Amino acid sequence: EEENLSPKGNFHQELLHSLPREKGWGIRYLYFFQQFWCHSPLLKPIISFQKHFQAKHSDIVIASLPKSGTTWLKALAFATVRRKRFIPSQNDHSLLHSNPHTLVPFFEFIYGDNPNNVIPDLSTLLEPRLFSTHIPFPSLTQSIHNSNCKIIYICRNQFDTFTSQWHFANNIMSSESLPTLTLEEAFEKYSEGIVASGPFWSHLLGYWKASQGKSNKVLFLKYEDLKTNTKFELKRMAQFLDCPFSEEEESSGVIDSIVELCSFKKMKELDVNKSGKSFEIVENKHFFRKGEVGDWVNYFTPYMTKKLSKVIEEKLDIPMAES
Ligand code: A3P
Repeated sequence: EEENLSPKGNFHQELLHSLPREKGWGIRYLYFFQQFWCHSPLLKPIISFQKHFQAKHSDIVIASLPKSGTTWLKALAFATVRRKRFIPSQNDHSLLHSNPHTLVPFFEFIYGDNPNNVIPDLSTLLEPRLFSTHIPFPSLTQSIHNSNCKIIYICRNQFDTFTSQWHFANNIMSSESLPTLTLEEAFEKYSEGIVASGPFWSHLLGYWKASQGKSNKVLFLKYEDLKTNTKFELKRMAQFLDCPFSEEEESSGVIDSIVELCSFKKMKELDVNKSGKSFEIVENKHFFRKGEVGDWVNYFTPYMTKKLSKVIEEKLDIPMAES
């Protein structure tokens, strides 16, 4: 079965034919491009992004693997960075009527939404500009690598990330009438690294190594730490972004208001997140499922637990499992 995304003879179509391909989940096919698995409609936008995006020193990029807590981190970063303009405790805050994916857009979609090949002009956006991406670190643009712009990366226990991804993919597949994968089928693919933006170990290691450099370029956060100590992690993030909370802000409850505004319970109940849509095929409600640490125990068999633990130990060389 052919994927016909652009006319034959076209550069992207030829590129597509030259790449290794696997059946995807939640999507029809994944293509191995620049050492990561990529959904074919994103190929063109990613190439356009790599060619055209010019980073500014003040830019902030939220990076992650899908289902690691991206939506939450976008909300926290937006609320923190724009707190002078949008007071976190006020009841007309943007996050109360817009989904975080609208406020902090993905490069993959900014550059995808141009049927007439118009390159989006991002130069006039309010600074600091906030963007996001699931693209691996080495495939970001030179201007991101070379500028002082900052990257915040969020990672999550791979057991929960897989569980979240499986639910998410099944929700999309059923709405798109694609055949759904069993948990076992999806798991085998995941363990082989075949998942959008995967293999997960390469993605994690790319950003992890960058965060270990001296340049203060990448802040590496963990979903689980954010859950247990949201306030502490938020303060760390604000510090990293050069907009630390003052003592006065802390004592007057600004940090608490941001934590509350971005909490799972609050966000899940908003009309925009119950019935709105930020992407063509995904309803906002699918970004808010359980929001818990450790839900994987309800889905993993002993075989799966053993296998993923082994993959993690082998590929990441750290005993990350089952925390
Ligand atoms: P679960 O499926 O385990 O519930 P992403 O934003 O990267 O797509 O990740 C989605 C995961 O983050 C989902 O996990 C979702 O429920 C959880 N999530 C979304 N908003 C959250 C919030 N405000 N606080 C905590 N977790 C959140």
